[in-house]
Amino acid sequence: MVILHNKLRAVLPAVMLLLVVCMTSPCRAQTQASALQAHPQAKNSCLDCHSILPDELGVTEEKFSHDIHSQKGLTCVSCHGGDANDDDAGQAMSRKAGFKGKIAHKDVPQLCASCHSNPAYMRQYNPSLRTDQLDQYKTSVHGKRLAAGDTKVAVCVDCHSVHDLRPPSDPQSKVHPLNVATTCSRCHADANYMSSYKIPTNQFAGYSKSVHHNAMVARGDLSAPTCTTCHGNHAASPPGVANVANVCSTCHVFQAQLFSSSPHQEAFTAAGLPGCVTCHSNHEIVQPSDELIGTGEKAVCTQCHTDGDPGFTAAAQMKQQLTQLAASIKSADEILGRAERSGMEVSQPRLELTQAHDALMKSRVTIHSFKPALLEADIKLGMATAAKDYEAGKKAMEERNFRRVGLGFSLVAILLMLVGLQMYIRHIERNDRRKEAVAGIHQ
Ligand code: HEC
Ligand code: HEC
Ligand code: HEC
Ligand code: HEC
Ligand code: HEC
Ligand code: HEC
Ligand code: HEC
Ligand code: HEC
Ligand code: HEC
Repeated sequence: MVILHNKLRAVLPAVMLLLVVCMTSPCRAQTQASALQAHPQAKNSCLDCHSILPDELGVTEEKFSHDIHSQKGLTCVSCHGGDANDDDAGQAMSRKAGFKGKIAHKDVPQLCASCHSNPAYMRQYNPSLRTDQLDQYKTSVHGKRLAAGDTKVAVCVDCHSVHDLRPPSDPQSKVHPLNVATTCSRCHADANYMSSYKIPTNQFAGYSKSVHHNAMVARGDLSAPTCTTCHGNHAASPPGVANVANVCSTCHVFQAQLFSSSPHQEAFTAAGLPGCVTCHSNHEIVQPSDELIGTGEKAVCTQCHTDGDPGFTAAAQMKQQLTQLAASIKSADEILGRAERSGMEVSQPRLELTQAHDALMKSRVTIHSFKPALLEADIKLGMATAAKDYEAGKKAMEERNFRRVGLGFSLVAILLMLVGLQMYIRHIERNDRRKEAVAGIHQ
């Protein structure tokens, strides 16, 4: 109380000056008018005064008007206590009026939870809103470390902001899917801030280059994951995922099913290795290609398998199968393309070739069984279709050649006919001229 008083005494002259300037200028009238519009019956001395205070003490009407709490009719007092009807700083912010002062970082979760973990209270506003954020938060690394006295971790306001706190669906919310990664990066990409911890600070850099970031940001596919999709919003992991390393299977169901029955499942578990992440990484997941499998330079398989072991042999075999099918599809595609450009009708085999494409796509999923025999079945199906379509393309080209020869013959025939016709006409003309000449002699 004494400290507050001393502090107040120190800044009050400046505040008084500001207030005097403002009372005689249009700015006070403006703030008051708009404040009245937002909350017609309520006075808010906190906002009146704080909207003209500098730096962290300043909370403007404009800023607070975007806050979901302000929009739902809550005020400064709802969180900070105090008396918003009193213009006097000392009275408005007196302990007697229940003023709590600045909320310390470590106390923020409790403050938010005083409403958000109270189902009876929250139901009055929005019955569909969850009320387990604090319970969940306590299970996260952030929550656990906060409980242990570490105030550098994220509390509610670090992710949600404060005084312009918007619902997650608002594109400007700090927890909107498109903004989450930036929100986390404020700490997690700051090597200086994180220097006292033993974890890397490259998650944001890696994620920004990933297929997931690309799907979400470049293509607007909000079903692609961002940080909190994999790590959970409040808990240590998303609902139904016991370990973050297994989160991939919630979306990539087929790969996960095949992997779980593959020889790697048991081998990786025994070695304490995560599943998908071992080959694809966790943040910088790039577009895979056939290069990733086999025994070549970019293949992941050679990280563990060496020449002579069954995995090495299988890797080479699986790569060869994929390459073979891709090559067959390519040659079928090329010959059908040539036939099409020469005006031949090949729409049917073209359509069928998409089945071979599908088989190749499926093969790239099937490799996750890590059983060459299973892969072989998909490859064979694709190869048969590709071969049939190649034959159809070849036939079309032969037909085109045949037609070209036929056309050549007809052209020659027509030409010969034209020459014959001309000779005949000349012959008649010659006869006519001769008759005319004979007639002239007789005259
Ligand atoms: C007449 C101006 C005035 C009014 C009215 C006023 N404040 Fe303040 N407030 C200040 C000043 C000046 C400070 C900074 C003094 C200090 O640090 O103790 C401050 C500090 C604060 C702080 C930070 C305290 C801290 O420990 O750093 C909070 C929170 C706050 N006010 C909230 C409110 C609320 C809520 C109300 C309304 C119930 C309110 N204020 C009314 C001028 C005002
Ligand atoms: C939903 C709850 C909530 C509401 C509503 C709210 N605040 Fe706050 N306010 C907080 C929290 C939490 C903090 C601490 C933020 C932090 O730790 O960074 C805070 C911090 C502050 C501070 C101290 C800033 C600093 O860093 O010293 C001031 C001043 C303040 N609020 C004023 C207001 C005023 C004025 C209003 C009304 C216009 C208001 N608050 C409405 C929750 C709220
Ligand atoms: C005095 C009670 C109260 C306090 C304290 C409070 N809130 Fe709220 N909060 C509400 C109410 C009421 C709503 C509006 C719910 C609705 O109608 O959707 C809300 C809405 C929200 C929403 C938007 C939910 C949605 O999806 O629409 C978020 C996020 C939120 N609050 C976070 C916080 C955080 C973070 C804190 C602490 C800094 C906090 N709240 C403190 C009462 C409170
Ligand atoms: C690490 C970041 C982070 C922290 C810390 C955090 N939140 Fe959230 N919060 C989120 C994200 C992300 C969402 C969901 C966004 C979405 O639905 O797309 C969310 C959603 C919410 C919602 C909307 C309803 C819901 O549960 O989906 C409320 C209310 C909320 N948080 C309150 C809180 C409270 C209270 C705290 C502190 C106990 C807190 N949050 C801490 C990131 C965080
Ligand atoms: C205010 C800074 C801050 C923000 C914002 C923040 N974090 Fe953290 N986070 C930390 C600190 C500090 C730790 C503790 C590091 C440790 O103990 O290894 C941590 C720990 C973690 C961990 C556990 C790391 C481990 O040790 O395995 C995860 C996962 C995590 N944060 C994810 C996120 C996500 C996702 C977001 C955004 C929604 C986020 N954090 C936002 C500061 C922050
Ligand atoms: C596709 C899922 C996914 C996304 C998206 C994702 N992570 Fe992770 N993250 C993981 C996995 C898996 C781990 C490894 C967990 C383990 O080994 O237990 C991890 C580990 C971490 C760790 C622990 C330290 C480390 O690097 O190993 C932090 C911190 C972290 N992630 C933060 C983030 C942040 C921040 C973002 C967004 C920029 C993010 N993650 C996006 C899946 C993801
Ligand atoms: C929330 C759902 C979700 C989660 C969780 C998820 N992904 Fe994805 N993933 C997607 C979406 C959506 C795409 C984009 C697909 C596209 O390009 O059309 C994608 C693309 C990919 C691709 C590129 C595939 C392609 O054909 O383009 C790979 C590889 C991948 N994810 C691996 C992973 C791994 C490994 C994890 C776990 C660490 C993971 N994903 C977690 C939804 C998810
Ligand atoms: C032993 C290494 C390895 C493991 C473990 C692994 N993958 Fe893959 N994954 C690959 C290879 C190699 C490719 C490239 C296939 C190709 O394009 O020829 C691939 C391709 C993919 C693709 C894109 C290709 C497609 O269309 O399916 C996705 C998505 C994917 N993997 C997800 C996963 C998920 C989810 C897991 C865990 C359940 C996982 N992977 C585990 C090696 C692995
Ligand atoms: C992180 C290490 C690791 C990576 C990477 C890896 N494997 Fe394996 N793989 C193993 C282990 C361990 C086994 C268990 C049997 C063994 O020790 O050879 C195994 C077994 C296999 C088997 C069964 C062999 C048998 O005994 O019949 C096949 C097939 C296989 N791997 C294929 C691959 C292919 C293809 C790739 C690349 C896409 C790959 N592996 C990448 C570690 C790995």
